[in-house]
Amino acid sequence: MSKPDYMKFLSSKMNFVEPSPIREMVSKIAKKSKETAVVSFAAGDPDPDVIPRKLYAELARKIFEDERRSVIYSPTEGLPELREEIAGFMRKYEQVEADPDTIIVTGGGSQAIDLIGKLMLEPGDIVIVENPSYVNTILDWRQYGIKLIGVPMDEHGLKTDVLEETIRRLRSEGKFAKLIYTIPTGQNPSGLTMSMDRRRHLMELASKYDLLIVEDGAYNYLVYEQLNVKPLKSMDEENRVIFVGSFSKVLGTGLRVGWLNLPGELVNLFKAVKGPSDMCPPVPSQFIVLEVLRAGLFEEIRSNAVKSYKEKRDIMLNAIAKHLTGLKHTKPVAGMFIFLWLPNHLDGWRIAEEALEKYSVATIPGAPFFTDGSGKNTLRLNFSMAPLDQIEKGVEKLSKLIK
Ligand SMILES: Cc1ncc(COP(=O)(O)O)c(C=O)c1O
Repeated sequence: MSKPDYMKFLSSKMNFVEPSPIREMVSKIAKKSKETAVVSFAAGDPDPDVIPRKLYAELARKIFEDERRSVIYSPTEGLPELREEIAGFMRKYEQVEADPDTIIVTGGGSQAIDLIGKLMLEPGDIVIVENPSYVNTILDWRQYGIKLIGVPMDEHGLKTDVLEETIRRLRSEGKFAKLIYTIPTGQNPSGLTMSMDRRRHLMELASKYDLLIVEDGAYNYLVYEQLNVKPLKSMDEENRVIFVGSFSKVLGTGLRVGWLNLPGELVNLFKAVKGPSDMCPPVPSQFIVLEVLRAGLFEEIRSNAVKSYKEKRDIMLNAIAKHLTGLKHTKPVAGMFIFLWLPNHLDGWRIAEEALEKYSVATIPGAPFFTDGSGKNTLRLNFSMAPLDQIEKGVEKLSKLIK
């Protein structure tokens, strides 16, 4: 009897698969949380106590009792009524007149991002992202064998002049970028929001150089200041923007409901790719989101979340100013994260590990979000999850370690 050599059975695609360094950190945090109370600045989740779980319980009871369709497959593109509601939602929150037929409901923005990879990306393709960018998009699209090029950001978001230079340099080498992926509002991990001028420039570049843009709007509904910016999709006269939406950050990451708003020509192809892989998004969750949208409750849930996270953000920013004086960090007007630059000689991984071990404070090292191995001295701090009264204590503990 001999055990099979499983490696021999794997596809060559596995050469492109890297384990998520963040998952590794998340398991360490979970392990530590079993031993002691951990202050978490790590996750990208909303605060479960801000989400109306009792209301969801009531909705779920009604849905399972009254709705026979709640326990069977929905169409792969989602419940027709939900797609109608999402089209209305796009009108209200994204200033986009979306035809319901161009909406595909997905298992969170994550599935939408993976479907884009599945349908559009192949080995050798070049994709441009903000540097740093959302680590799961980086890992997911790298699984399709692509080459990622990161373009830096400043306080106004993606540096579109550097983007143009990059596109031109590629052209001069006979190469083309297939997609530009951006999280223009409350970016993960930086917390930065792209200015209106940069947004205009980006749309001009897309038109000038014949590019498609993937706009990831995961944090579009967690905005803490008056923003004079428009969603890229709403400025999209040539239909070059694929919009990835998500209800996760307001209604709950566990529901797993997101969507794609696609150029009409691509809808059937996306459905064809999606159908055999998941049949449909989770149906009870689709019904819960549907009921929340129909009853006009999204705005109430969103504004409660915004109120709570704005207060937490301010506490964290004040604590950083007080205990980590002089360290460079972002001041987010949207999203869930503050990005912190440690002194150059410090390693974000080491600090994150020691903060967890010695002080029970969980953070995420910034390095995995960078496309080029830079950012070793950075940390991502989430401000939505930790209880209000623990934020300053957590930052103070972190400062002890850093000092
Ligand atoms: C920028 C960004 N996009 C997409 C997602 C995926 O979220 P979900 O699949 O829960 O919609 C996240 C989650 O952290 C994110 O930060």
